[in-house]
Amino acid sequence: MSDITLAQLISSNNRPWLTQPKPLKPVFRIPFLFDYYRIDMKPVSANVYPGLPNTDLWLYVNHDGTVAVPAVIKARRNQPALVKWSNQLASPNAAVNHPFINENQMPMMPMNMGPNCQGAHTHPGDTVVHFHGGEVMPGSDGKPTRPIKPGQASFDWYPNRQHGATYWMHDHAMDFTASNVYSGLAGFYILEEPQEAALGLPSGKYDWPLVLQDRIMDSSGKFVYRIGGIEVDPATGSKARVPEFVGALPLVNGQLLPRMKVEPTWYRLRLLNGSNTRFYNLRFHVTDQPDLSHYGEYPDIDAWLIATDGGLTSRPARYEPNGLLLAPGERVELVVNFARVGNSQLTLYSDIAVPYQGDPGSSEDYFPLLSFDVGNTVQQAQHFEPDRNLRNIADLPAPNIPPKTVTLLEKVEAVPGDAAGGLTPQASIAPHGSVEADGVTPKGMHYCEAITAGETVVLNATEDWSFVNTTGDYHPMHLHLLQFQVVSGGQNLVDCNGASVKAWKDTVAVPPGGSVTIRAKFAPYKGEYVYHCHILEHEDMGMMRTFKVV
Ligand code: C2O
Ligand code: CU
Ligand code: CU
Repeated sequence: MSDITLAQLISSNNRPWLTQPKPLKPVFRIPFLFDYYRIDMKPVSANVYPGLPNTDLWLYVNHDGTVAVPAVIKARRNQPALVKWSNQLASPNAAVNHPFINENQMPMMPMNMGPNCQGAHTHPGDTVVHFHGGEVMPGSDGKPTRPIKPGQASFDWYPNRQHGATYWMHDHAMDFTASNVYSGLAGFYILEEPQEAALGLPSGKYDWPLVLQDRIMDSSGKFVYRIGGIEVDPATGSKARVPEFVGALPLVNGQLLPRMKVEPTWYRLRLLNGSNTRFYNLRFHVTDQPDLSHYGEYPDIDAWLIATDGGLTSRPARYEPNGLLLAPGERVELVVNFARVGNSQLTLYSDIAVPYQGDPGSSEDYFPLLSFDVGNTVQQAQHFEPDRNLRNIADLPAPNIPPKTVTLLEKVEAVPGDAAGGLTPQASIAPHGSVEADGVTPKGMHYCEAITAGETVVLNATEDWSFVNTTGDYHPMHLHLLQFQVVSGGQNLVDCNGASVKAWKDTVAVPPGGSVTIRAKFAPYKGEYVYHCHILEHEDMGMMRTFKVV
């Protein structure tokens, strides 16, 4: 079997058309009390490209058996959701294989979790469901080492008291997050805010969630999971893993390199980077062919950024034609006007290398994601005015303690059970205050080592955390429980007058050799929550720690 290439997809006349994903149906809805969902995790065989054999996946499936890719929970602010997540991936105690062709040792990184949680490793087929961006109590947050085993179920309570936004849900099982998400266990959690309706943003069939992912597929229709494997440095003999997945094919809403029919008016596009490792520099191209003679030419569309991870920004921010960086785990919402490009085709593409080390985009890394087929009639004209306020965002007050420093580094050590043997570098986190014997060098800690004083925060306290990246790659850092503000080192958003725009984030890309400082209020719940790199292979290999709100 050989891999299907991007060139094959591009030249085919069979490219799939996207349909707008239908939200999951609650089993029942009790107004002012809660919505009850039953969502089953099941093996499903589905077509991802017309003319190719079906692909085996693991998906979140409606209680009535209907399947939509991606699964979307649509909730309303202040109406809680109760979800029964039921793991039906296999019969209890049966051996389970992931649905893709596994070319690597799995778990890929037999992670050294440290001394305090022997036996906490999970197994293939174990799942953990996490509502990313959700303000939920610890018991419903999806603790990586407390899996739902095949045949079991768990009930999670999502209060939905937070602001409306494009959140998402995905698997979070210790050691298996990368492989479970790769299998298909990811979807949207869109929280709608009643007041938002007054803004008159594009809505209904002009409002689309789009999840961007990358895959390797072979001609039998199976996805393939392949990472770089093990590299030996010929000079020193030391072994290094390449713990990053890079797929040659784009998968958008469960379809390979799809097309989407749009009318020549405004659309709201809710973009989620649901990839394991791949960063995107989002740009629009004037053609639906990879006609690189037109590379860099920007179509005559008008686009504005209106929301980030935590919902609407204070004002619409300019979309920069040379690209918008979207790291794994991040969301961004664009409103795009196709009015002046009726009767034409455009492509949303990325042009940066993976792993992403900060190099500017180039045509060599051209990676088309999705084409828009713009028609010439409009059923319901949508409107958008960029010079306006969207939401009031107050700055969090400066904390009265200095910033805490969290260092991102590589830790070289023997990994138990690693087929490579020897010393292996693992991406790692040194929490605030964790230093080697010399008293200064940051010391990476394992996931299961005790929570440090630096990781303990008083309920409702506001703190600055500086992520200092000593490695050569970008790392998207994510905290559970809360939305934060980026104080320094983040992307600059400016409105139509050049004034800066405020935003809430839950994931932020930290550049190699650089740092990002975030400001967070640790609320509204006490308890233990994880923070980690959202490159899923890094998270699985232990670039994850726990903070505790007391
Ligand atoms: Cu998107 Cu800890 O996760
Ligand atoms: Cu999360
Ligand atoms: Cu990382």
